[in-house]
Amino acid sequence: MAKKNIRVCCGMTCGVMGAGKIMRKIEADTGLKAGEKNDDVDLNYCNCTGNCHLAPSIVVNGNFIHEGKEETILAEIEEAATREPQDPGIIDASVEEVLNNDFLGDI
Ligand code: FES
Repeated sequence: MAKKNIRVCCGMTCGVMGAGKIMRKIEADTGLKAGEKNDDVDLNYCNCTGNCHLAPSIVVNGNFIHEGKEETILAEIEEAATREPQDPGIIDASVEEVLNNDFLGDI
């Protein structure tokens, strides 16, 4: 199992608040694309986590990162990975859902 299960919300609010930029930052750091995994990281988008008021929402091993920022997200992911894993019940986004959210590539 990957040591870090990272999910970036691809809902409308998180997309508008910069989830696409955050995903690209994580992709550049890990060498993975959304939907890929290696021995250390399992990376993907997820559907709305219900934390739209704290967008963009990122989930690491079930632990939420609220109001994620491109500049600090990598350190926040490392910190979140040290916490006790949780099961927040989030659902991975399908390819169709991600492709339909054009704003993830634009903002
Ligand atoms: S759109 Fe991301 S938490 Fe709702």
